[in-house]
Amino acid sequence: MAVVSTSLTGIGSQLSGHFSGIRKSFLKLDNSNFNSTHSFFQNVDSHLRLSSSRKGCRGVVTMAGSGKFFVGGNWKCNGTKDSISKLVSDLNSATLESDVDVVVAPPFVYLDQVKNSLTEQIEIAAQNCWTGKGGAFTGEISVEQLKDLGCKWVVLGHSERRHILGENNEFIGKKAAYALSQNLGVIACIGELLEEREAGKTFDVCFQQMKAFADAVPSWDDVVIAYEPVWAIGTGKVATPEQAQEVHVAVRDWLSKNVSAEVASKTRIIYGGSVNGGNCAELAKKEDIDGFLVGGASLKGPEFATIINSVTSKKVILNSIGLYKEVQTVVISYVLIPKNEPTVVRFTLVKSSKFRCEW
Ligand code: PGA
Repeated sequence: MAVVSTSLTGIGSQLSGHFSGIRKSFLKLDNSNFNSTHSFFQNVDSHLRLSSSRKGCRGVVTMAGSGKFFVGGNWKCNGTKDSISKLVSDLNSATLESDVDVVVAPPFVYLDQVKNSLTEQIEIAAQNCWTGKGGAFTGEISVEQLKDLGCKWVVLGHSERRHILGENNEFIGKKAAYALSQNLGVIACIGELLEEREAGKTFDVCFQQMKAFADAVPSWDDVVIAYEPVWAIGTGKVATPEQAQEVHVAVRDWLSKNVSAEVASKTRIIYGGSVNGGNCAELAKKEDIDGFLVGGASLKGPEFATIINSVTSKKVILNSIGLYKEVQTVVISYVLIPKNEPTVVRFTLVKSSKFRCEW
């Protein structure tokens, strides 16, 4: 048996067809709202949050963040005109799931080339930006210039900039605030060093980095948080799904306590650090992992496509719905994909805003 913690909200949802398991912010309802099939259907969120936290549960998996699955490719300081044109052509010919936000971050000097040749399904990010409006800042690139090239996002606070270039929380916060003020989305990176993890300081470090962003940013609407444990970046030593999930939950909880429940629910928290085509599906199944930030594996088109398409590990298809006369029992059948194994999931209304689920 598994317990489903879910939300109900007043939208006329499409209860057939595609179901992605993504939760939206919700309203509390009372039982009086469920006096007919019609009103029930009007009040069930299409974005149920299923949590398979108990032992023995089958893999109905979900996304706790209410935004789309998000996958970023951080190309770092790699590539030449030729290799990048090959990568772009591989990405253009790949079949990508449509309900994923995909972003790639080429080196500055190739941004224009990539923007002009890459499919529109993939947006462009920069790997850094200046803290304010451009001017006499030798070697820097301004947000205005990035926008001029068609960039939609910027990666900020990456561990390589924190630990190799010495950027601190305050400096990173300034950049984030300015980028957002100019409507450039921010992929805000956080993550602990190995010695910090070993000293039991993972949460403290991540929360401090979160606080620096929270103190600086005017709104979280265009922010995606990337949790990237430094010991996992470029090392081939990926965090286990449980290690990543643990920190993602803690970060979401931090947002809930320190910003708002709505922001906690809406903000995508993606994982980065040695993600590849072989480990992405298991990571993606974790409820609070809303996507990935990928370095090395994003330089290989087909492998990056596999990572993008790991969103399917999160999906279930709702294929039939029945409502018993008794208001307390609702039966919803799902077919889980990609396993192709039809599974009936029975939901029982146990509280006004919670379901119990067995399968
Ligand atoms: P990696 O890099 O996937 O090569 O570990 C991740 C990142 O730095 O964003």
